Order: sequence, then C-alpha cells, then structure tokens
Amino acid sequence: MKTEEVLQLINADVRGLDKYHLKKQLANTKLNQNENPCDWDEEVKEIAASFCKSRPWNRYPSFIPERLKESLARYTGVAPKNIIAGNGSNEMLLILLLSFVNKSSSAVICTPTFTVYNLLVRGIGGDVKVVNLNEQLQYDVPAICSAVEVNPSAVLILCSPNNPTGSTLSKQQILAILEVHRGILILDQAYIEFGGYNAVELIDKYPNLIITRTFSKALGAAGLRVGYIIAAEQVIAEINKIKLPYNINFFSEYVATLILENRTKIDAGVEKTLAQRQEMFQYLSQLPFDNVYPTDANFILVRTPKKQQLFDYLVSNDILVRDVSSYDLLENCLRISIGTVEENSCLRTHLMNFFENQQSL
Ligand SMILES: Cc1ncc(COP(=O)(O)O)c(C=O)c1O
Repeated sequence: MKTEEVLQLINADVRGLDKYHLKKQLANTKLNQNENPCDWDEEVKEIAASFCKSRPWNRYPSFIPERLKESLARYTGVAPKNIIAGNGSNEMLLILLLSFVNKSSSAVICTPTFTVYNLLVRGIGGDVKVVNLNEQLQYDVPAICSAVEVNPSAVLILCSPNNPTGSTLSKQQILAILEVHRGILILDQAYIEFGGYNAVELIDKYPNLIITRTFSKALGAAGLRVGYIIAAEQVIAEINKIKLPYNINFFSEYVATLILENRTKIDAGVEKTLAQRQEMFQYLSQLPFDNVYPTDANFILVRTPKKQQLFDYLVSNDILVRDVSSYDLLENCLRISIGTVEENSCLRTHLMNFFENQQSL
C-alpha cells in the first residue's frame, strides 16, 4: 500500500486538525509555559529516588491509585470516590470529551482559551461553537448563557483562571451559568491555587459540573504528568469506564502523593508567586504597554505593537515568553509566566532597557 493511501484511512476529523505544537526554543529564563519556576528539593527527591529503586519495575502499578486519591481527597475537600487521577489534566480532558462528545454533538468554548479543548472536540468529530471573551478579555456570561440555551445538550468548557488571559469566573457567574445550562460544564481549574473561585463545593448540587486540575502548575510537577477530575460520584463511576487501565505509572503516583504531604512547601511556593505577580504587575503597568491584563493565574498577558521586537529582544537576552498573538482577540499579545525572584528581576531589567532603547530611536 502507498503511504498516501494509508493516510486516507486516518479519521478525517484527525487529518483536518492543525498540529498542536510549541516551537522548541531554549532559554535560561524560561517564562513561556506557566510552570512552577522552582524544582522540588533534594530531600523530597531522595525519598522518591529510593522508592523508585526499591519498587519492582516488572510489575504494573496499582489498578486504582488509592493512596493518591486519598491524598487528593484531603487536598481538595471531597471524597476519593469523587476523583479520577491520570496522566496530566490533558488526559483527563480527553477522557471527559470521549465521554461527552460524539459526531452529532457540540461543545461551547470561549475564545481565547486553552487550545487543547478545540483540538480534542474536533478530533473526536464534535462541532465547536465559540463565544468571544469581552473587550477586557473577561468572560461574557450573558453570551455564554445564550449559547448554551441555543445548544442545550452542548458540553460547555470553561477555564478559570483562563489560560492565556488570567481572567476568572466568580461564584455568582458560575451559578448563573449552571442555572440555565442543561448539559455538562467542564471547568478547567489548572491554575486554581493562584486565585479565582474554587467551585468544588458545587459538585453535589450540580452533578453536571466536572472540574479538572493538575500537578503541573502550583504543585511544581509538570514532568510527572499528573492531573485529576473532581465530580459527582456516579458521574466519576461512568467516566472511569473509558479511562485506560494503569494510566499513572508507579513513580508519578508515589511522587504525587509525596508532594501532597508537603503542603506547607506548596503553600509557601504559591505565596511567593503571588507576591512576585503583584510586583511584576505593578512594574509592567508603568511601562508603555497598550494593555497589561489583570490576572488570577501565575502569568500576565500584555499587549504592545512592539510585540515582535520585544519578543526577539528578550530571546536574544536568553529570556523566553509566550507569543500568543495568533490567538483570537490577542493581536500583539505576549504571555509572561511569573518566575523566580531572580528571573523576574532579570526580565524587568531587560524590559526597561528595551523600552528605553525604543524611546531613543
Ligand atoms: C488551562 C490548562 N489546562 C490544562 C493544561 C494541561 O495541564 P497538564 O500538564 O496537567 O496536562 C494546561 C497546561 O498548560 C493549561 O494551561
């Protein structure tokens, strides 16, 4: 068979997708992926390493990651039966969309937001209805309510705090949406530790609300690939059927549980990031950006007609931020993650130099 004939056999919905890619760029000051800028300390790593050495590698991990689910239940204030854990929140989004989307269904997604939602829904063959954020890049709740009223069975996917804008939905806004929406609401709270309303208390009253979270941001473990779902018990039981067996390897399961036992370190890291965010926001607001958008996450979105020159200048000084200017409504925008004290200070110095040089041109 010719390769072209084989390619024709690939699901048309998958072939029709644009590639999700992140241009590989290296820099010492890496402020482009909203990771926790601090790695876990040696003490924790030593415990993890000795577990890894002693645990037989030829045996499968536990069928149900009980210890991790119990730790997550304590961390989030629900019961283990309200949780599914897996290989990053991306995998959790995949199993949710496999559960709720098919070729005759649609999803309502706001834009700009995390691009993986659109990719997965379309890859599964569902139709995407888009609702724009408003001019301030905040959620337009009346428009979201109208969209779900017109598409009552649609899966609504919201991200709060939203990547890449940092905007959030308040409790009142989520309740207003849940009051009218008769379909599923997937609420992605990957950045919840940094701010915004934590909607976990609503899952009992609203079984159509499903929350996804991650270890990749505040918990400082993007490399482990651990994410989880919080939802009503019976919903979890059904979704669990499509989850692949053994989707968390033994190392990630063990280390994720270990991380949750270090709650004071997690909280201290979040406090540091929040203090740095405030300082950075004030600094950026004094620079000649067209907009510096308010944020509840560990990143700040800025807009400047000098976007490309600034991006290139930062790269030439070994600093990488995220160019999000190709997203809907984000012309000339860059997204800057909050780094360590030293990284942020280095960024500020280069931003100041850049704008001073621009003025003298
Ligand atoms: C809003 C949002 N959801 C989910 C993810 C994916 O997280 P994970 O690393 O857990 O797959 C990201 C990653 O950047 C994100 O920004």
